[in-house]
Amino acid sequence: MDRAKNLRERIAYYRRHLGEGVSAEIASVYLREIAKAEAELRRIERGDEGTTDAMNRRLEWNDAFAIGHTLLDAQHRDLIRLINRLCVALDTKADMTAKHPDLRALLHAAKEHFEHEIAVLKAIVAGPAPDHAKAIGASAMGEHASAHDRALGELHAIVARIEHALADDLPRHADELITWFVVHAIKHDANLKAVFQAM
Ligand SMILES: [Fe+2]
Ligand SMILES: [Fe+2]
Repeated sequence: MDRAKNLRERIAYYRRHLGEGVSAEIASVYLREIAKAEAELRRIERGDEGTTDAMNRRLEWNDAFAIGHTLLDAQHRDLIRLINRLCVALDTKADMTAKHPDLRALLHAAKEHFEHEIAVLKAIVAGPAPDHAKAIGASAMGEHASAHDRALGELHAIVARIEHALADDLPRHADELITWFVVHAIKHDANLKAVFQAM
């Protein structure tokens, strides 16, 4: 396994995304991932190849992933945990057959999380929340549901690519999983966050 090559590819991947004009919050997550990968690369170049906790963890919790709802934020943490567990396997380029249940578990957790978000939005719009929050919730609902449909489609596509990938391509798919989550939690859920901030 060529960890240095994987790390260089990861750094290039995040730099490419940064160049696509992402929000400041998404950029800060990518910059942290780049810094982590560069530090690991320097360690390897020094001949000090010990794997750090940070590399094992891959995607760390970031306050920008919180939307201000206890259960939904716990689900975001759970998605990170599932993704990190998969990243450990993907980074080692191990045969992924044994991890197929973990891939299914991620798809299931994502679907359940999206359904919860919509249920919470509906309850806010129909409940005793301040008018301002209800108005934001009502306008967010349709857009949010279609963003979820697209995100779930993308996740299914990433999982299918992992299931059919050559070993050398597996670490790249770990980056795709991380980006998938970051874009959901920061970009797509921004309107959900606005609803909770208005309450
Ligand atoms: Fe979410
Ligand atoms: Fe969402």
